[in-house]
Amino acid sequence: MAPTTCFRCVSCAAAFPIEEVRTGCTACGSLLDVEHDLAAFGRSGDDWRRLFDRRRSALPGLATQPYELSGVWRYREHVLPCLPEEEIVSKPEGNTRLYPGRALGEEIGLSRMFVKHEGENPTLSFKDRGMTVGVSWARHLGIRDVACASTGDTSAALAAYAAEVPGMRGIVLLPDEKITGEQLAQALHYGATTLALSTDFDGCMKVVSELSSAHPLYLLNSKNPVRIEGQKTIGWEAIHDLGWEVPDWFVVPVGNAGNISAIGKGLREWLSLGVIDRKPRLAGIQADAADPFYQSYRTGFTRKITRTAGETAASAIRIGAPVSHPKAEREIKFFDGVVGRVTEAELMAAAALANRHGLAICPNSAVALAGAKKLRDEGIIGKDQLVVVVATAHAIKFSSPAAAFHASGAEGANPPRKVDGTLAAVERALGL
Ligand code: F0G
Repeated sequence: MAPTTCFRCVSCAAAFPIEEVRTGCTACGSLLDVEHDLAAFGRSGDDWRRLFDRRRSALPGLATQPYELSGVWRYREHVLPCLPEEEIVSKPEGNTRLYPGRALGEEIGLSRMFVKHEGENPTLSFKDRGMTVGVSWARHLGIRDVACASTGDTSAALAAYAAEVPGMRGIVLLPDEKITGEQLAQALHYGATTLALSTDFDGCMKVVSELSSAHPLYLLNSKNPVRIEGQKTIGWEAIHDLGWEVPDWFVVPVGNAGNISAIGKGLREWLSLGVIDRKPRLAGIQADAADPFYQSYRTGFTRKITRTAGETAASAIRIGAPVSHPKAEREIKFFDGVVGRVTEAELMAAAALANRHGLAICPNSAVALAGAKKLRDEGIIGKDQLVVVVATAHAIKFSSPAAAFHASGAEGANPPRKVDGTLAAVERALGL
């Protein structure tokens, strides 16, 4: 039997039809989940694993649809079963590598650490997983204008997916001069209407929320629970990559807190369907300069703290009022999670270390890696525990903090050297 799907308020449990265009609860103003009655499929955990294994090993042919090759839509019955398959807009996304970070792991004291490199998605960040679902649903609903506020990665993904739908207009609100040149170029190249606002991300988020209340445009930030349904596949795919072994830890960088909420939701669903049989733990890591979720965690979540986020090389998580805080809090509690934070020096050292091991991760991803190291140093993560660090974007999107680091003379810096264009000068420079 096909499952029923609805929106369900995370605070007051009010339900709303899934076909309504909405991103919040009209009864109490809180966030919504997409709720599926997945048990209605009547399949066992074994059945699901076999189906997903079969899809994963299928060979593509000329008649294959992009979504059949997607690491998001491979799990389509659990993503958005109410969406007709012919409406799916897929590049395809997902299928990112799970790198066994052996030498890298050893350097930070972890013998079984893997890095799930979400920077290998089509627009070089994990946002493509949520956006394929959000834009497909928008297309299904016949929506013309889709919009988001962004620190640069959601906007790139929105622009790229909207560009595939004839007649759809992508609108992105960016904090002026607070995202990288590469991220800005993505939104521009994909043809999104791009507005650089004289405020920070939290200011852009406020304006885009007001805009979407006042006008018929579809909000595609992770406040929109439909996007979360795609993002939750990161955790699933990592477990699938591990041959169905559940890691002891997922370590994730936290900004607006949608991603950690999504991973947690997906894992709860697979636990209830019997696809997995034990809980991993979750670690959410922030940068010192933008640590409201860490501050709230430190109060035992008795207070929900917001702040003005300061400057950080991890500019994609420069967020002072995480919209998905209530969901992330729920997942941290359910998965016996921890929240940590790292300094600028720690995150840049971790980025340099990973890159020196051939893993091109960005400063935001390095927040998670530095956090994993810190939790190991503190004895919270055990040396031989199975750890998946989620790298959320590719280093290449963040060349300016990398260039600044290498020019800084900090430990691990590898600055370029200017040399005359002669053989003799090059030989001298190489000590030959
Ligand atoms: N890493 C990267 C590279 C990001 O772009 C983001 C968020 C995060 C981590 C944090 O994920 O917000 O779900 O906790 N970027 C958003 C954006 C805010 O607009 O691109 P989160």
